[in-house]
Amino acid sequence: MQHTDSHFTLIAKTVSGLEPLLANELTKIGATDILPLTRAVSFKADKRLMYRANYELHTALRVLKPIHQFVAHNENALYDGVSKFQWHELFTVDQTFAIDAVVSGGAFTHSHYVALRTKDAIVDQFRDRFGARPSIDVNNPDLRISVHIAENQVSLLLDSSGESLHKRGYRTMVDKAPINEVLAAGLILMTGWQGDRNFVDAMCGSGTIPIEAAMLGMQIPAGYYRNSYGFMRWKDYEPELWESVKSTADEQIREMEGHILGSDHSAKAVEIARANVRNAHLNHDIQIIKKDMEALVPPEGGGILLINPPYGERLEEEDLTALYKTIGDSLKKQFKGYNAWIISSDFQAMKMIGLKPSVKKTVFNGPLECRYMRFDIFEGSYKQMKTEKAEKRRE
Ligand SMILES: C[S@@+](CC[C@H](N)C(=O)[O-])C[C@H]1O[C@@H](n2cnc3c(N)ncnc32)[C@H](O)[C@@H]1O
Repeated sequence: MQHTDSHFTLIAKTVSGLEPLLANELTKIGATDILPLTRAVSFKADKRLMYRANYELHTALRVLKPIHQFVAHNENALYDGVSKFQWHELFTVDQTFAIDAVVSGGAFTHSHYVALRTKDAIVDQFRDRFGARPSIDVNNPDLRISVHIAENQVSLLLDSSGESLHKRGYRTMVDKAPINEVLAAGLILMTGWQGDRNFVDAMCGSGTIPIEAAMLGMQIPAGYYRNSYGFMRWKDYEPELWESVKSTADEQIREMEGHILGSDHSAKAVEIARANVRNAHLNHDIQIIKKDMEALVPPEGGGILLINPPYGERLEEEDLTALYKTIGDSLKKQFKGYNAWIISSDFQAMKMIGLKPSVKKTVFNGPLECRYMRFDIFEGSYKQMKTEKAEKRRE
């Protein structure tokens, strides 16, 4: 496809393992030249699509716009390269900014130092030109600038998202070990959930997975509950274009046929999940109940179960082995007709489930390497197993 000047390259960052899903989401919103990278996908877009990417992508963490590239083998070359860009075209001395640096390989080893030199070059340029300099604000800057150095190749990028896109705006409280919203959305997309079957999270904690499932099932844009994005403070911000992007996406919101149930044995988790569900105005679409997984009766007719049980590294659980054995028993007994998906970094404990996975994927939950497995619980399988056991006993 031929691109006019109004088209530019963007890089959407994501969680390791979700790159193909992000590429798929980008195809759906009309991006072109889509190229999956490591924990990121690059694509071509115009301004409208950049706004859409921020608002509609469930599996993106940030959307960055490359603005300047050069090669630097030492810190002076880094300073000179940054100084060549005309920073006053992007912001003014009255605005604030922040720098985020990522370095891998080459002459630079300390990202903090790279951020500092980049800041010096920008500040000095303003001071030389205007006799005044913009201030740094790491928490709520007007402009976020990313500097990426890979093997001495320096890229300067503007962060069009501002705060990370996993901060959807509905989760005001969390319980122990909440899952990242972007990872939760990716795990749900991997199950093939489209809102037309039952969806259960029997260890729902703060309710992230049920809420993300409702958002995907009802086609609620990922940024629906959020008010601000980095691009809103850019000089070229077009509020009418943003309003049009938002209203077009919001028109796609639909009702769901499937039933979403979240449950947890902790009263505190249930209270928090209910509060978050209310924040998302989804209290008519998601039911949250207090139950032990072993006592849960899921909606009839089968569906999808997705659980994020405690892993040893993050939660102090008495006996993880026993817990995973109970999960396995529960699946066989109560979840007939369900496709059960479980994410865990405890590979030993996962074996205690005692079922053969039909799908096995590797994903990362923060720094933790996890397996994401699917177990298909067929109707009658538990009965069949009991009969076989009884027959064995009689032999
Ligand atoms: C890792 S946390 C889930 C976090 C959740 N995905 C979130 O985003 O907040 C695991 C949850 O499993 C719950 N849990 C542990 N054993 C359980 C059991 N036997 N039945 C029900 N819930 C259980 C814990 O109370 C905890 O909330």
